[in-house]
Amino acid sequence: MKEERGRGFRNWLDQRLGYRAAWAAVFERSIPEGLNWAYTLGSATLFVFILQALTGIFLALYYTPNPDNAWQSIQFIENHVAFGPMIRSLHHWGASAMVVLVFLHMLRVYFMGSFKYPRELTWIVGVILLFLVLAMGFTGYLLPWDEKAYWATTVGTNMVGAVPFVGSFLEGLLRGGPSVGVLTLPRFYAVHMLFLPALLVLFITLHLVLVIRLGISTPPKAARQERLMYENRAPVGRSAAAQRGVRG
Ligand code: HEM
Repeated sequence: MKEERGRGFRNWLDQRLGYRAAWAAVFERSIPEGLNWAYTLGSATLFVFILQALTGIFLALYYTPNPDNAWQSIQFIENHVAFGPMIRSLHHWGASAMVVLVFLHMLRVYFMGSFKYPRELTWIVGVILLFLVLAMGFTGYLLPWDEKAYWATTVGTNMVGAVPFVGSFLEGLLRGGPSVGVLTLPRFYAVHMLFLPALLVLFITLHLVLVIRLGISTPPKAARQERLMYENRAPVGRSAAAQRGVRG
């Protein structure tokens, strides 16, 4: 009876939300043969992104984006907050892991030729994601407000200043003034925890919609085997692919 009521409620919900179709599209879609561990790198990147978001929300509860207190607030997290050092370490190492994973994922996509038709847009959105991930790393680096963070950001923003024509404008925009100082820290903090995460969520969603819509590409080896099998079935002298006007 209870079971039936449960099912009744799920049906009621499904008729309104269509969640079963959405679940099937995401979790029950078919994937090509011959996939290996390298094909999990995109999902691994997604996992680390979620981890970064959760640990980042926790850190934001205690962090103060103000040059007078930023470093002390980090010390407070390290020494007085329950699980603070663990969560800060997860966020710290997660940032590096995300950069490494996103590069490996990109290399997999490149060497398996997965960027080709019809996945060009998935690749272009991926390139935007790559820059957003790097920008997250750059803006996050300043936040502990110690010597290393200060000078790394000074050097980084100096490099931006060397861009022809618009360099000094961009440098001023990033720093909020002529040098890295009082206005730079809240600026980097806002970009790190509001602007960039919003853009990342937007572009990751678009990326995943494209991945689900187009399906995962068949690995080159499996595609070659499929083609050979297909051609072996074709009448002698003319391959089936040639009959259908398919090149290559
Ligand atoms: C935040 C960064 C990123 C996340 C979370 C992400 C996530 C994913 C996921 C979950 C998949 C499906 C599983 C897989 O193929 O591994 C995927 C596929 C794909 N990604 Fe990414 N990705 C990111 C960055 C990039 C970058 C930097 C590129 C390239 C410049 C890229 C290009 C692609 C392409 C072309 C596919 C389709 C692969 C295929 O069909 O075989 N992605 N991505």
